[in-house]
Amino acid sequence: MLLEVSELNTYYGQSRALQNINFHVDEGEVVALLGRNGMGKSTTLKSIMGLLKPHSGQIRFNGRDIMGLNPYKVARAGIGYVPEERRIFPNLTVLDNLKMGIKGGKIDKSNPNAWTIERIFEHFPFMKERTHQKGGHLSGGEQQMLTIGRTLMGNPRLLMVDEPTEGLSPIMVKEVRNVLEQISKAGIAILLVEHNYKMAISIAHRVYLMGKAHIGYSGTAAELEADAETRKKYLEV
Ligand SMILES: Nc1ncnc2c1ncn2[C@@H]1O[C@H](COP(=O)(O)OP(=O)(O)O)[C@@H](O)[C@H]1O
Ligand SMILES: [Mg+2]
Repeated sequence: MLLEVSELNTYYGQSRALQNINFHVDEGEVVALLGRNGMGKSTTLKSIMGLLKPHSGQIRFNGRDIMGLNPYKVARAGIGYVPEERRIFPNLTVLDNLKMGIKGGKIDKSNPNAWTIERIFEHFPFMKERTHQKGGHLSGGEQQMLTIGRTLMGNPRLLMVDEPTEGLSPIMVKEVRNVLEQISKAGIAILLVEHNYKMAISIAHRVYLMGKAHIGYSGTAAELEADAETRKKYLEV
């Protein structure tokens, strides 16, 4: 297992936002974490990333206990995180935004698989044409992809993406979906939080469904596709 979350509990003040959460992501897998608004999906990602401090439980990544590490160290351990809010630097160029994702500011030449700007351009051709434009001038979908590209520059083994298609046009949803599929084919595991069920199911191998503060269902994408009752219970579809 690449990521293993066991009996995770996270609170906001007195209110329990995660209640004994258990799930895992294997090497190279695409796992979707789905559920209605307010169930705890973003809280789960933030707890893994060290942005929230869980009350109890275990988070293991790549065989190592990462619970309680600060976000910087979690990123160093190999987890890339694309939050719900797109965090580009609007006044920096596309190229400089990408460079901001390089850990320690320097491409690791000892790693033959390290992401380079050229490789990012192969996956996101529009960035090559707009290298010197300011990030703030990109469309919402392009900014989302720039955030993903910047995160890849940190060479994650697991990419956690929170609602990447929120507010995007159907064409851009497809583009983001295809980019995530390519990233998966490049061998990176993905933990995808999505409100767009169809998009998620089209790339996920396995799915976890969240009810309030807990995981209520776990199955393969094919199993969930065949289970209309469960979908109705946990999703708006
Ligand atoms: N900063 C916060 N302070 C207090 N409660 C929060 C905070 N962020 C989220 N919550 C609450 O925690 C629950 C889970 O939120 P969240 O993880 O954002 O859900 P989701 O991502 O599934 O929509 C919700 O009830 C939400 O209102
Ligand atoms: Mg959320």
